[in-house]
Amino acid sequence: MALPAEWRTRLRLPLIAAPMLHVSGPALVAAACRAGVIGAFPAANCRRHGELAAWIAEIRRTIGDTPDAAPFAVNLIVRSATLADDLACVVREKVELVITSVGSPAALVGPLHDAGCRVWADVATLAHAEKALAAGVDGLVLLCAGAGGQTGWVSPFAGVRSLRALFDGPLVVAGGLSDGHALWAAQALGADLGYMGTRFIATTESLASDAHRRMLVDAGWDDIVSSSAFTGLPVNWLRASLVEAGLDPGALDAGSLRADAAELYGTRDTRRPRRWTELFSAGHSVAGVQGVQPVAALVDELARQYDAARQRGLGLAPAGPSRFPG
Ligand SMILES: Cc1cc2nc3c(=O)[nH]c(=O)nc-3n(C[C@H](O)[C@H](O)[C@H](O)COP(=O)(O)O)c2cc1C
Repeated sequence: MALPAEWRTRLRLPLIAAPMLHVSGPALVAAACRAGVIGAFPAANCRRHGELAAWIAEIRRTIGDTPDAAPFAVNLIVRSATLADDLACVVREKVELVITSVGSPAALVGPLHDAGCRVWADVATLAHAEKALAAGVDGLVLLCAGAGGQTGWVSPFAGVRSLRALFDGPLVVAGGLSDGHALWAAQALGADLGYMGTRFIATTESLASDAHRRMLVDAGWDDIVSSSAFTGLPVNWLRASLVEAGLDPGALDAGSLRADAAELYGTRDTRRPRRWTELFSAGHSVAGVQGVQPVAALVDELARQYDAARQRGLGLAPAGPSRFPG
């Protein structure tokens, strides 16, 4: 187990509630930390000047009454236009964990380490992982096939095993983790933590719209469509949201759509559905969503499943609940 020793007692499950655009806000993050899993949000969700510092303060205030609440992470999207300001803020605030995505973390590692922040990088290929490690990151999040949001393509079986041969530090596996059984399997495979995004969209604390949450409840993994048309990178979308927007899920990547993605689907052009807020993303793990519930109830459910899987995996008769093994 390659996690920082002081985090072990703060985690009920080896889990991160993954950062999600337009979904993860202070209420979701604080509820995750209080329930004993690492909460995370993208700095990009903070739209106004000063909002990032305000969110960090709000999360700290909310979890302040919970001794040993799990740590929280800020996700910095390297290609974001506000990266410099966001970086300065997390450095000033000495956030415990920063997770970088979409771009090389190389320029961020020095200032974040100087401030005492741990830096984990989201990677989708072996080459990305090698570059991130060469840049000095402390941990890796391996984006695998079936993930919500921008998806990876590698099977977690092959991906985790090859990264484990390369690196013995904190390793998180992302994509397709639909329940506590999958979380146990991620650890059995050699990951330290699992990342779950889609499961946390369907919580009462998420910022997602009711329409997005309802669609998750109704969908299975056959209802997930992968396309680069809306961002230029492969993202998994809920088929029903594409159909409701009048698009043909079978003909998305044709022609010039990809090159024009930001202009067509990232602006307030009312003739086009907006990506993320009108076109909804989810991963294969949508298969585990049966309803919308508070984060604490979701974590209880995951813990029950994790315990059952662990006991079965260890060949034990069912027993009382346990913290995850160190
Ligand atoms: C709606 C949505 C928005 C997302 N936004 C981000 C983001 O801003 N930054 C990021 O690093 N990952 C983002 N992700 C990816 C998640 O952090 C995570 O990798 C993914 O949800 C894991 O797969 P799962 O949904 O099957 O659990 C997003 C995922 C979803 C579903």
